[in-house]
Amino acid sequence: MTSPAQKHGWSRMAEPLRLLVICLGNICRSPMAEGVLRARIEDSPLAGRVELDSAGTGDWHVDCCPDARAIASAAGHGIDISGLRGRQLTREDFNRFDWLLCADRSNLANARALAPPGTRDKAALLLEWAGVERGGEIPDPYTGGPEQFEYVWRLLDRAADGVVARLQRES
Ligand code: 4NP
Repeated sequence: MTSPAQKHGWSRMAEPLRLLVICLGNICRSPMAEGVLRARIEDSPLAGRVELDSAGTGDWHVDCCPDARAIASAAGHGIDISGLRGRQLTREDFNRFDWLLCADRSNLANARALAPPGTRDKAALLLEWAGVERGGEIPDPYTGGPEQFEYVWRLLDRAADGVVARLQRES
């Protein structure tokens, strides 16, 4: 239901926008995405208005720091993600966040399987939502080398530009 404040646009000004980035393990792609997105948002007129988090659909890395290769890749671009810790996606995340942006189609299917009624469409592919590529996926770099992590970083960097542009347009 729309409150009078929402109708007049007041609460949209004050309410944070809540974004959750999702991958499988929450130690490679989604913490890298969280790092680059946070930096880009803080450099934009949206600074201070966005609540950002990341999660994995799997539970293997709960409370773990990001993969050393993800930390190194982010550090190479001037961003420190070493303080992030893994957590698993929950059903409650669908109530708490406005958008749940997934790295690949498998993450999207697994996330949507948890969605309470009426919230399924909050989950989307990150690259598609950001306007980078319809149906685009961020490949899992876990079994790859530094070049795979660099490739993922470049995709996430483009996604971050698209996310900031879309949030500015729509907020
Ligand atoms: P991520 O990468 O989903 O980008 O965090 C992975 C990390 C760990 C595993 C798979 C993918 N794993 O199987 O443990």
